[in-house]
Amino acid sequence: EKDGYDTFMEKEIHDQPHAVADTLLGRTDAAGQLILDELRIDPEELKSITKIIVLACGTSAYAGMVAKYAIEHWCRIPVEVELSHEFRYRDPIIDPNTLVVSISQSGETMDTLMAVRYAKEQGARTVSICNTNGSTIPRESDAVLYTHAGPEIAVASTKAFLAQITAAYLLGLYLAQLNKKLYSQAIKDILAQLAEIPAKIQTVLDQADQVKELARSMKDTGSVLFLGRNVGYPVALEGALKLKELAYIHAEGFAAGELKHGPIALIDEGQPVFVVVPSPMDRHSLHAKVVSNIQEVRARGAKTIVVAEQGDEDVKQYAETTFYVPETLPMLMPLLTTVPLQIFALELASAKGYDVDQPRNLAKSVTVE
Ligand code: M6R
Repeated sequence: EKDGYDTFMEKEIHDQPHAVADTLLGRTDAAGQLILDELRIDPEELKSITKIIVLACGTSAYAGMVAKYAIEHWCRIPVEVELSHEFRYRDPIIDPNTLVVSISQSGETMDTLMAVRYAKEQGARTVSICNTNGSTIPRESDAVLYTHAGPEIAVASTKAFLAQITAAYLLGLYLAQLNKKLYSQAIKDILAQLAEIPAKIQTVLDQADQVKELARSMKDTGSVLFLGRNVGYPVALEGALKLKELAYIHAEGFAAGELKHGPIALIDEGQPVFVVVPSPMDRHSLHAKVVSNIQEVRARGAKTIVVAEQGDEDVKQYAETTFYVPETLPMLMPLLTTVPLQIFALELASAKGYDVDQPRNLAKSVTVE
């Protein structure tokens, strides 16, 4: 059942082209229009949504952060992302025009389930993005958008994460289509770029050896930092979480712009820093800002490991190691830049002799509060 891989996690990382392709499958019609009939919420009702709250925990919450960037950009609807366990215990402002989107691989995470119940009681519409057919959270939600990643066995989430991001993009594009916030040609163009993602993930997987070699050489590292900006920020957080979960190493992800507000004090001779570099095509010119962050940490002795877009030659001169991913739309980059970080954590943990499928102290689904 591991298809010849040593661990479920490795198999699941290699399943990712399918996880994304299957999540896209059947969700457009011949004319290239998105059809999300399975959502089962009256489109008229969806049109009246004035605010979205994404609820999730762990890796799924990082998918939610990517969703925020995409949905706000494409639909111009304000999106908040909140950890489910924090949401419930404040006084969140919810009304019938609030759409609550929960994201859960298992569909059984107690914190998220309780938050969804609470949101429903307060009158919100609830949509669940979920990977497990018939599980509790989608059953209790008004609507569900399933991710088709297939069963995820390894405790650390990988393919479910990419599938959740894919589903969130579809939801965002669907809302943009309903509210006419994007021209239908623009939606088609984004969908065409999404359709190319599975093959591009495969390209990244085919270059895994370079990442693995670096991971093995860093097996005795005590701490690793991850920087990203915009959609690269949740990717940095996810890279850090994978390393904590699997390799039991102190790891932290930061928004690169926050560096000078404190974290730069951590930089010392030899400190490894991963930098998820925005596309040079990013409309806010964040690329140049992140390149200068790389220079800043490097000047203070950091060992910089850069994940950048193919053709981005600028970054190379400042990086100890550069991993390239194929070009795509800036918004879609997380589907590619996450992959080297997953492989890195898996390989480093394996080099330390740890059980990557069953890391200590963790359970696949957290069904207690
Ligand atoms: O099943 P869920 O997506 O609701 O699970 C949420 C988190 O518990 C989960 O993503 C956790 O952070 C993973 N161990 C991440 O690898």
